[in-house]
Amino acid sequence: MIQVAQIGVGYWGPNLLRNLIANRRCRVKTVAELSAERRNYVQSLYPAVRVTERVEDVLADPDVDAVIVATPVASHYDLALAALDAGKHILVEKPLARSVAEVAAIGRLAEQRKRVAMVGHTFLYNAAVRYVKKLIDDREIGDIRYIYSQRLNLGRIRSDVDALWNFAPHDVSIIQYWLGDPEPVSVVKRGVDFIQPGIADVVFMNIHYPGKIMANIHVSWLDPGKVRCMTVVGSRKMVVYDDVADNKITVYDKGIDRKAVLGENMDYDGPSYPTFSLRSGDILIPRIDFQEPLKVEIDHFLDCIEKGTPCLTGIDHARKVVEILSA
Ligand SMILES: NC(=O)c1ccc[n+]([C@@H]2O[C@H](COP(=O)([O-])OP(=O)(O)OC[C@H]3O[C@@H](n4cnc5c(N)ncnc54)[C@H](O)[C@@H]3O)[C@@H](O)[C@H]2O)c1
Repeated sequence: MIQVAQIGVGYWGPNLLRNLIANRRCRVKTVAELSAERRNYVQSLYPAVRVTERVEDVLADPDVDAVIVATPVASHYDLALAALDAGKHILVEKPLARSVAEVAAIGRLAEQRKRVAMVGHTFLYNAAVRYVKKLIDDREIGDIRYIYSQRLNLGRIRSDVDALWNFAPHDVSIIQYWLGDPEPVSVVKRGVDFIQPGIADVVFMNIHYPGKIMANIHVSWLDPGKVRCMTVVGSRKMVVYDDVADNKITVYDKGIDRKAVLGENMDYDGPSYPTFSLRSGDILIPRIDFQEPLKVEIDHFLDCIEKGTPCLTGIDHARKVVEILSA
């Protein structure tokens, strides 16, 4: 039985804690939380868990094998290093850290101490995201032309990070996963701060990959409605992944084909103007067996610790995401 401790139980932390408590492969021994109100909340829900204000109580406890960090990003680096230094495996909420140098330092220490360092890029444990990954890997979609993503809301405004660092770790992580973690050719972004000086509320980011693949990410907490939608346009098919819809995936057999006409334009490289045909075939809404992504994520973390399973969202993936965000 792996003994775990969680640091931070604010807005997102309760989801992690609920899944850790429910998991029979681990036992939550301690929760460290600075806020008395949040400590009381945890204690009232889970009386058997030891609750403390001091992170040191967690780090000094030899019974604790793994530490889950669900605090704001500014504290991730120090907490991750301290936990690794104390010999703990770590699962840190996204993004792992604020710079590539910080991610690299965490990676080095994890390697030295032979401990698992994983980042909570939850969407890679989401069945709909994995369904699209399989479509891409099975060549169902053909060559990827472009991907665009919208992650929009009215609120929850943050003051510690801008909309890019708050939302786009998800989009970047998903796009990198779908494409097989390539190195981008270029990254261009533009954001504007309307509400708090220096903290962009809306950001558009454009990433070019080898093979003329383009990705566009639009994130905002200044938008009329909640949108979590990603579209993948391929040479054979097109896919829409709508995370807030009941049917999350729609696969369109749509595209534009070059048409060969007998006697003319037989050679696509010829000088004459080619003709095109629009293809608009079947639309598939697949049934997806859905499990809570955080449950899958925690099971994967425990597999990495117990069985040495290669980590899907380990240091390499975390570094690429942070590299793109900070480009
Ligand atoms: N995977 C997802 O979908 C998802 C969604 C939301 C947030 N997050 C991530 O979760 C993390 C936390 O975000 P949040 O919205 O819950 O933030 P939050 O500010 O609501 O909560 C953070 C909590 O951590 C506590 N805390 C801070 N420093 C601490 C320390 N040194 N020791 C003990 N407790 C400490 C605070 O008191 C607070 O209760 C961020 O990294 C964020 O990006 C992930």
